[in-house]
Amino acid sequence: MSATDLPALPADITATPEWTALTEHHAAVSGRHLRELFADDPERATALTAAGADLVLDYSKHRITRDTLPLLTALARAAGLPERTEAMFAGAHINTSEDRAVLHTALRAPRATALAVDGQDVPTEVHTVLGRMGEFTDAVRSGAWTGHTGERIRAVVNIGIGGSDLGPVMAYEALRAYADRSFTMRFVSNIDPTDVAEATRDLDPATTLFIVSSKTFTTLETLTNAKVARQWLVDGLGDESAVAKHFVAVSTNAKEVSAFGIDEANMFGFWDWVGGRYSLDSAIGLSLMVAIGKEQFAEFLAGMYAMDSHFRKAPLEENLPVIAGLLNVWYANFFGTETHAVLPYSQYLHRLPAYLQQLTMESNGKSVRGDGSPVTTSTGEIFWGEPGTNGQHAFYQLLHQGTRLVPADFIGFAEPNHAVDVAGEGDMHDLFMSNLFAQSQALAFGKTAEEIAAEGTPADVVPHKVMPGNRPSSTILAPKLTPSTLGQLIAFYEHVTFVEGTIWGVDSFDQWGVELGKVLAKQLSPVLSADTADTAGLDASTAALVRRYREWRGR
Ligand code: F6P
Repeated sequence: MSATDLPALPADITATPEWTALTEHHAAVSGRHLRELFADDPERATALTAAGADLVLDYSKHRITRDTLPLLTALARAAGLPERTEAMFAGAHINTSEDRAVLHTALRAPRATALAVDGQDVPTEVHTVLGRMGEFTDAVRSGAWTGHTGERIRAVVNIGIGGSDLGPVMAYEALRAYADRSFTMRFVSNIDPTDVAEATRDLDPATTLFIVSSKTFTTLETLTNAKVARQWLVDGLGDESAVAKHFVAVSTNAKEVSAFGIDEANMFGFWDWVGGRYSLDSAIGLSLMVAIGKEQFAEFLAGMYAMDSHFRKAPLEENLPVIAGLLNVWYANFFGTETHAVLPYSQYLHRLPAYLQQLTMESNGKSVRGDGSPVTTSTGEIFWGEPGTNGQHAFYQLLHQGTRLVPADFIGFAEPNHAVDVAGEGDMHDLFMSNLFAQSQALAFGKTAEEIAAEGTPADVVPHKVMPGNRPSSTILAPKLTPSTLGQLIAFYEHVTFVEGTIWGVDSFDQWGVELGKVLAKQLSPVLSADTADTAGLDASTAALVRRYREWRGR
């Protein structure tokens, strides 16, 4: 596959008859209440539930009828979703602005998969790196890999940012129950000096291993933090040569890794066809592999592969990422919603919303289509959220009674990772999960003024207590949070993002919008530090802020 095998970008999707049909359908459906939709269709809950791998998606609490999904899948076909999906899996250069293949799915494909892209035997290369990661992981976990003083490693610090941090930290937090607790795991990302200082302050350099994770190995935050960490190590051990046993790198850029002083033998590579926000299952997941071991990391990859297979093979109408992605389009483009709440009912998933923010917003926050022409409808959704039940006591008020419509994803697991019986209360996980089911129920069905008045509520208080309902949500359930189901969930959201980007016709795999700020920060940094900074040439606001900053720093 190459750029030439890329299916042509379909014409403006909003100009298609499928879009018009959805506009008309929206006019007919949007005024209907979920109470009425459920009353009219007793089989609705069963009909509007789909399953893929171990995940179940109940999408019956959405503002749709049984006619909606066929109209949405017709739109997907008009946008060329099946062809573009195949093109992605086959290695076509669907990242057009960077002329790159997009092959994160190859990172979890079995070794026997036949996939040659741009002259590269992709599965062989992937599994060679996985094998090296496994050997390294075994050595660290068994104590065979020792530090400079001969002591075994006890703490692992991943230094990276964006996709080189958010995935590893989210997945490590999610799978803590499966991790070797004798290791201290830390993640440093921010160039705020407090981040690296707090991460290292109680660690022993003799037993600490740094994994410097950066696709490009040119990212200012990561390289600065890595330099500070190296200084901390060398100061602590009193020997520059200690770096060899305490620093490994994950990158696509061997030249810069060597320039930093890390031996290429201690580098784990990946490829330009792995986007940063899609890289957790590449060598970027090394810290996770060390934490949970190579076997459970393999289960995590197998979970992703199971969802990939579902996405690639299931009919659009039964396809979890397709259904969820199209529903997101339904709200963003036809109801005009701006944001999307992610509400995992698992404390272990507390970094999932942050991870999804990069995945979805860096991918689909675009104003031009793949061919550079302006988009013709709004794109991207603002993803945000917190684990239940914490969110319930913070922002759910707005979800229930506010003026904005916020579609939400509830995510829950049947089996707890910690079974706890509370005296007099019963199974603690039942209490927890009853909150998930109750919240989606309250959002969908609400409570009417009549019902509230019938409870004896004073008339002047009734309007305050009315719960309008008709607030849409998906419920995603899995049997248990495991490496496999986490992998399935991540692959699910990757493909949801792809489905949305395909409808909008954007390149979901570049991120040019982050570049200007990086360039400006590089230019400003000497102006902040120099004794005689020249603020001429800066805009008036920035110049005044810089002068005040310098004054407060005594410069
Ligand atoms: O924020 C932009 C970005 O390029 C992300 O896409 C990426 O995940 C992050 O920076 C880190 O990049 P790198 O892994 O090259 O350090």
